[in-house]
Amino acid sequence: MVVGDNNSSPDEEQILNSDPKVVPDASHGSSGSSSSALAGAEIDIESVARRIQQALTVGNKQHRFWETQPVGQFKDAGDTSIPDGPIEQPTPVSAVKQEPYNLPGLYEWTTCDMDDDHTCTEVYTLLSNNYVEDDENMFRFNYSKEFLHWALRPPGYFKSWHIGVRVKASKKLVAFITGVPARIRVRDEVVRMAEVNFLCVHKKLRSKRLAPVMIKEVTRRVHLENIWQAAYTAGVVLPTPITTCRYWHRSLNPKKLIDVGFSRLGARMTMSRTIRLYKLPEATMTPGFRKMELRDVPAVTRLLKGYLSQFAVAPDFDDNDVEHWLLPVEDVVDSYVVESPETHEVTDFCSFYTLPSSILNNQNYSVLKAAYSYYNVATKTSLLQLMNDALIVAKQKDYDVFNALDVMHNETFLKELKFGPGDGQLHYYLYNYRLRNALTPFELGLVLL
Ligand SMILES: CC(C)(COP(=O)(O)OP(=O)(O)OC[C@H]1O[C@@H](n2cnc3c(N)ncnc32)[C@H](O)[C@@H]1OP(=O)(O)O)[C@@H](O)C(=O)NCCC(=O)NCCS
Repeated sequence: MVVGDNNSSPDEEQILNSDPKVVPDASHGSSGSSSSALAGAEIDIESVARRIQQALTVGNKQHRFWETQPVGQFKDAGDTSIPDGPIEQPTPVSAVKQEPYNLPGLYEWTTCDMDDDHTCTEVYTLLSNNYVEDDENMFRFNYSKEFLHWALRPPGYFKSWHIGVRVKASKKLVAFITGVPARIRVRDEVVRMAEVNFLCVHKKLRSKRLAPVMIKEVTRRVHLENIWQAAYTAGVVLPTPITTCRYWHRSLNPKKLIDVGFSRLGARMTMSRTIRLYKLPEATMTPGFRKMELRDVPAVTRLLKGYLSQFAVAPDFDDNDVEHWLLPVEDVVDSYVVESPETHEVTDFCSFYTLPSSILNNQNYSVLKAAYSYYNVATKTSLLQLMNDALIVAKQKDYDVFNALDVMHNETFLKELKFGPGDGQLHYYLYNYRLRNALTPFELGLVLL
């Protein structure tokens, strides 16, 4: 139970005792239970298969926190007798725990007002020094202040969902987590959810079980708004992904990408051949391709609604959402439409958002300018040509790389437009909503920032 949970959980106790280590339970998922099943009168082949699958995919890892949460559990994977839908039913809002969860004595909760420039800078600084890095610690996401301002203030946002932790004595911001409201359709049902993002704990405070307290606190504040589900992504495997996607990368500035170690020169390739390989036309090719404007909002909403309806999980955007999420904001989000030169009808749409990464420890470069494919809808133009034009404008605007997940119909252009597969995976999750069967990335119509 998450709601009305007034007791100090093992996670909170752990923080207070500051013993960070998780002790692996040698019996978890071991062959002992499977062999006893085999020795029994009835052999439950399905459950044996499930255990083998589990052991292979999650390496017997225990999740002391996530096992207590209403999320799909690995042990239930493939159990078709459990229905799709909410795992726990909502309680009256009055029954939701009214006080914040306990933090260790040296720390206090703070609500971060993203309209306040000083607070926004504090959040930016925490994230730019402590947020997600690649496995080799060569790059770190560097979300801009303008991006954070945009990402955290969509229609109907709650200030109380922008949660920080400060050191009581110095007031230094040392941890952060956020939610923003969204309507997300899961198969036939539109569900009000929180999109949870920007979970970050200062490097010096890692492995002290602070993250579970942050997650419980954002959950509590989401419940206080009578919202009971959430969507989130992570690079790590947790119970249980609804799908697992891969990032693909399209070099726009191959020389820089190679110089900073983002990519390598291919076998039998010279630098000049590589530069030629990734060269793009100077100007976009589709007649009527232009920047999206406010007057395009209804047409873009229509295009998106039509396109997203075919995916199992996708946002349910209205005009207000489209105006916020897709109207261009300089260096934050770029959107283009194709307006038919004859009929003036808007027939196609593409977009990307801007997320630079800091380049750690390189003498010549400090920032990698990356565009991330967002939502794209092609009805008259081919998706291939539309995305080629997106690459062309990104190159004109001096991006170094264009990234895209293999979600929606992206597979149909990735290889042909010379994207290469990355090595990282991105797992998508739903909180308090079970999907019996995992989705393929192509069934997913949702991009989280
Ligand atoms: C992610 C981060 C906040 C976790 O904090 P931490 O100090 O490493 O871990 P803690 O000891 O506080 O908590 C560990 C628990 O959090 C869970 N956890 C770790 N990363 C998580 C994530 N990204 N999303 C949800 N839960 C996560 C762990 O699985 C573990 O729970 P479990 O025992 O049930 O498996 C921290 O590593 C960090 O700031 N990393 C850089 C930024 C980042 O990767 N953010 C997440 C982006 S998706």
